[in-house]
This record gives sequence, C-alpha cells and structure tokens, in this order.
Amino acid sequence: MEPKWLWLSVLLLLLEGCRWYSTDACWEDERIALLQLKPFFNHYNDLNSWVEEVKGSDCCQWERVECNTSSSSSRRVIGLSLYQTRWSDDERWYLNASLFLPFKELKRLDLSGNRIAGFAENEGKEIKLRMTNLEVLDLSNNLFKNDTFAILSGLPSLKSLHMGNNQLQGSIDIKDSGRQLNLTHLEEFDLSDNLIKDSIFASLSGLSNLKYLDISSNQLNGSIDMKDLGAFTNIEELVMSDNDLNEFVACKELHVWSNVEEIFLDGSYLNNNILQSIGVFTSLKTLSLSGCGLMGSLPNQGKLKTP
Ligand SMILES: *[C@@H]1O[C@H](CO)[C@@H](O)[C@H](O)[C@H]1NC(C)=O
Ligand SMILES: *[C@@H]1O[C@H](CO)[C@@H](O)[C@H](O)[C@H]1NC(C)=O
Ligand SMILES: *[C@@H]1O[C@H](CO)[C@@H](O)[C@H](O)[C@H]1NC(C)=O
Ligand SMILES: *[C@@H]1O[C@H](CO)[C@@H](O)[C@H](O)[C@H]1NC(C)=O
Ligand SMILES: *[C@@H]1O[C@H](CO)[C@@H](O)[C@H](O)[C@H]1NC(C)=O
Repeated sequence: MEPKWLWLSVLLLLLEGCRWYSTDACWEDERIALLQLKPFFNHYNDLNSWVEEVKGSDCCQWERVECNTSSSSSRRVIGLSLYQTRWSDDERWYLNASLFLPFKELKRLDLSGNRIAGFAENEGKEIKLRMTNLEVLDLSNNLFKNDTFAILSGLPSLKSLHMGNNQLQGSIDIKDSGRQLNLTHLEEFDLSDNLIKDSIFASLSGLSNLKYLDISSNQLNGSIDMKDLGAFTNIEELVMSDNDLNEFVACKELHVWSNVEEIFLDGSYLNNNILQSIGVFTSLKTLSLSGCGLMGSLPNQGKLKTP
C-alpha cells in the first residue's frame, strides 16, 4: 500500500473511533461512578444490566439510567431512577453523597424506598449533596430525619422535592447552620406522612416560588392562620388533609391568595366557619373537606362567595 493510502486508512480509523466514543458511549467518569454506586442499589439484582462488557460499554443503555441523547448533546447522564432497590428489612444506612459528584448534568434523582437515613461520606458524618443542575429529587419512603435539610444547600436548581413518608418530626427547620436555604426555584414540596408539628410555615418562608405544598398526614394541630402562609405568593395547591387541624383562619388583608386553586383539608376537625372565610380565594376550583365532621346547614350564597 502506498503511504498516502496508509495514512488515509489510519485517519479513517481514528475518525471512526472518535465517532464511536462520542456518540455511542457514555462518559467514562460517569460509567465508573455508576459501577461504584451499583453495590449499594443492587440488592434485588435490579442493576444487572450495569456491567462493563467491553471497555467503553454504553452506560446510557443501562436500566434506570437516562442520558441526554439529543443530537447536539454530550450524552451525559441526566436521570437516575434508583427507587426501591433495597426496601426490605435491611438496616438503615447512610449514602455516600460524594458518589454523585461525577454526574455534572444530573437533573432527576429518584432514591425513594431505600431505607436511607442520611447522606454521609463516612458513617454518620453528614455531608452535602452538590448537584448544580438537579431539578427533581425524590427521597420519599426513606428514614431521613428533620436535620436532613442542611444537605439541600448544594442544590440551587431544585424545583421538586419529595420527602413524604420519612422520619421528619417536631418542628422542622429548612436551614443550614442557621442560614435559610436558598431554594428559590422550588415549586413542588411533598412533606406528607411525617411527624411534623406546628410552626412549619415560618420555616418554609424562604420558598417564595412554591406552587404545590403537601403536608398531609402529619401532626399539625390547632389552627392554621393564613397569615403564616403569607410568604407563598405563588401557591396554587395546598394539601393539608389528615392532621389535627381545627381551624383555618383566612384573612382578607392578604392579597396573595389569588393563585390558590385547590385546597385539601379532609380528615380535619373543622367547623362551618371555614366556609365563610374561603371567599378570599378568588381562583379556588377545588375545596375538599370530606371527613371533617361539618354539621348543620351551609351558609347562604351571599356569604359563601365561591367563584
Ligand atoms: C440536552 O443537551 C442539550 C445540549 O447541551 C441541551 O440544550 C438540552 O437542554 C439537554 N436536555 C436535557 C433534557 O437535559
Ligand atoms: C465516598 O466516596 C468518595 C468518592 O468516591 C470516596 O473517596 C470515599 O472514600 C467514600 N467514603 C466511604 C466511607 O466509602
Ligand atoms: C428534630 O426533632 C427532634 C425530636 O422532636 C427535636 O428534638 C429537634 O429539635 C428537631 N430539630 C429541628 C432542627 O427542629
Ligand atoms: C438565591 O439564589 C438566587 C438565584 O438562584 C440569587 O439570585 C439570590 O441572590 C440568592 N439569595 C441568597 C440570599 O443567597
Ligand atoms: C398542639 O400540640 C402541642 C404540642 O404537642 C400542645 O402543647 C398543644 O396543646 C396542642 N394544641 C392543640 C390546640 O391541641
């Protein structure tokens, strides 16, 4: 073969190699990081597809891994669904938060149903999750406690946080060493099925973009004064069912309630006064009050100013 052809063949081979690496394979550091995560989430062999068949195998094809496959993109991992991979009677455990550092573009992380008690690098010593692009974090059905919120200060893009059915208790504080967390993008917050008592709203006041808040099935008691919710100027749906609430005080002076479309207060111990104060919710479409033990007659239409 003439040298010219030889060089051309070598060049073609190199180009082919590059194409193979950049379009068909995932990032090596992410593939290695996935293999490091695997032993913690493979109790039921859910991650059998996570194997290095040949060097450079494409982790974007692995189950529960989602990559950005749009034509111009880098094929980085953007979603990890690690739910219910060790939910049986295993001991509580601490997940090494550093294992997620290589996933620079991760947007969705589902760790629900895994008996995780916290994030730590070394057993018990809590450290922060740091993912600048993370938008959706599902930590529900785990064993997180109320001091867990400090770990969220490294997630500035978070839009949706699910912490239902954990061990949050007493009065929770969305703070990191005394400073309010800056979760300005948070729109959805699920705190249902925990053991939270009152004074939750003051501690949530930094969440100015919240649209959906679920605090059903906790231990909120007594009366909820809507003034305490005044910081949530964008709230659209409030789910407060199955607490020990007996009063819901809506105050007219606040004009922030024009966005609220749905309120769920089922299973509370309310009296008929609730029906007289809902007129402030000018956009209300759903008010759910089943099992609240309301008695007597409804207020007349003039008083009950439903839209
Ligand atoms: C995929 O990557 C492209 C290019 O970087 C980006 O514009 C797009 O937003 C990404 N898509 C997702 C779902 O992350
Ligand atoms: C946690 O993960 C980091 C990064 O992989 C590693 O350096 C560290 O040793 C791990 N810690 C433990 C206790 O395994
Ligand atoms: C978390 O709950 C425990 C038990 O109720 C309580 O003693 C502690 O003060 C709470 N921590 C915060 C930050 O509210
Ligand atoms: C909170 O984050 C937003 C943007 O994410 C930023 O503009 C703002 O200055 C931050 N506020 C504080 C108190 O850090
Ligand atoms: C609410 O719970 C607190 C603490 O458990 C208790 O001291 C208080 O009396 C309760 N309030 C009502 C109205 O039940």
